[in-house]
Amino acid sequence: MDLERVLIGADDTVPRARYTSAEFAALEFERLWSRVWQVACREEEVAEVGAYCEYLIGDQSILVVRSTPDTIRAFHNTCLHRGTRLAEGSGLLPEGCIRCRYHAWRYDLDGGLLEVVDADEFDPIPEGTGLRAVRTERWGGFVWITLDPEARGLGEYLDPLPSLLAPYHLDRLELRTYLSTVLPANWKVAVDAFNEGYHVQGTHPQLLPWTDDVSLEYEPLGIHAHYGRLPNARRQLRPSPRLGLVPGEYDEGEILENFIRGLGGLFYKDERALVEEIRASSLDGETMLSRYQKGRRALLDARGVAVDDFADDQLTSADDVYFFPNMVGPIYPGIAIVFRVRPNGLDPDTCIKDTWFLQWPKVGAPRTRAERRFFPDWTERDWGEITNQDYANMAHVQIGMKSRGGPALRLNRRQEANILHMHRTIDRYLTAP
Ligand code: FES
Ligand SMILES: [Fe+2]
Repeated sequence: MDLERVLIGADDTVPRARYTSAEFAALEFERLWSRVWQVACREEEVAEVGAYCEYLIGDQSILVVRSTPDTIRAFHNTCLHRGTRLAEGSGLLPEGCIRCRYHAWRYDLDGGLLEVVDADEFDPIPEGTGLRAVRTERWGGFVWITLDPEARGLGEYLDPLPSLLAPYHLDRLELRTYLSTVLPANWKVAVDAFNEGYHVQGTHPQLLPWTDDVSLEYEPLGIHAHYGRLPNARRQLRPSPRLGLVPGEYDEGEILENFIRGLGGLFYKDERALVEEIRASSLDGETMLSRYQKGRRALLDARGVAVDDFADDQLTSADDVYFFPNMVGPIYPGIAIVFRVRPNGLDPDTCIKDTWFLQWPKVGAPRTRAERRFFPDWTERDWGEITNQDYANMAHVQIGMKSRGGPALRLNRRQEANILHMHRTIDRYLTAP
């Protein structure tokens, strides 16, 4: 493919072929997915020795295994005999070893070849033969892998996210819900949909009475980015300025209630009770938001969530973090919703989206294991009004983008800056030697 024609131009226009062309998708596999660090699973999914998770990226399958209480390893998920995939999905390896289903070759949890049935009938297999390792590192309670043996370390790759996110202790969150589905659009269409607030007025107009969608801030962070209620745009209990309402024309209590409802089941029951209590009481000159933030701090404190490093206004303000290339989502003290999006095989027109609800566990509560649930067709499930609206856009974006009658994408300089930043970073990978 003529690379020059699909790169971001000097005028920042984004060619449509980046979303629609099979050749471009192939190029992404060759130069992007084979080089980046990507999240394979959560650490708690491979909590016990012998637990495993399969991670699929494009046509590659990676096997992540807890080999000792302190060690997580990753391998190319292929038998050294005739190539059979060794494990699928997630679970516990029986008998503490990796056994091929086909001719029963066995490997230990470090990938070493343990047993070849009728070994004397093979040409001698050298001592120390084993599964090919994939580089893996851990950060934030996530297990990361890279297919590039030469890639820089994970810490350097993620910089500056580890220091920015340190107060959130993502490693202490627990995976509560794990939902996956196939969306009818390129993986970048799905990432883009959660990497800007510009579409709220167009796609989710029902939110405008409850949220200021205009004052969101956007900022690149190394190859990554974030947006949302950043330091100059903390949450206020006010509607969208697009509605032109002035104080007195809206009810802060209703806005607070909707903010909490918008987060779905993630906010605890007692937080809902707190809002009701605040609405019913007199504020004595304090703002409703500050009263709620204080109450929320006490509730999180009582639950053992470390909140000392957060200012009051951070307790109600999401930081929507974009981990290049394919993970994005709002992070609050004590909770996070993370979306991981991957190409679906080598298809440029569909993607797999995983939704992870992570929550700080209650003090002393037993560890729970979230069940993976997969919906091959997103319309099989009700994802909630807002997400349904986002997903319903996907096919229209992908089909429309294929039209030969349209120009390159035109991005909003401020509100879609993260999307342009992503494309520029992709180009750095595509053009790197
Ligand atoms: S393919 Fe694995 S043992 Fe034959
Ligand atoms: Fe949306």
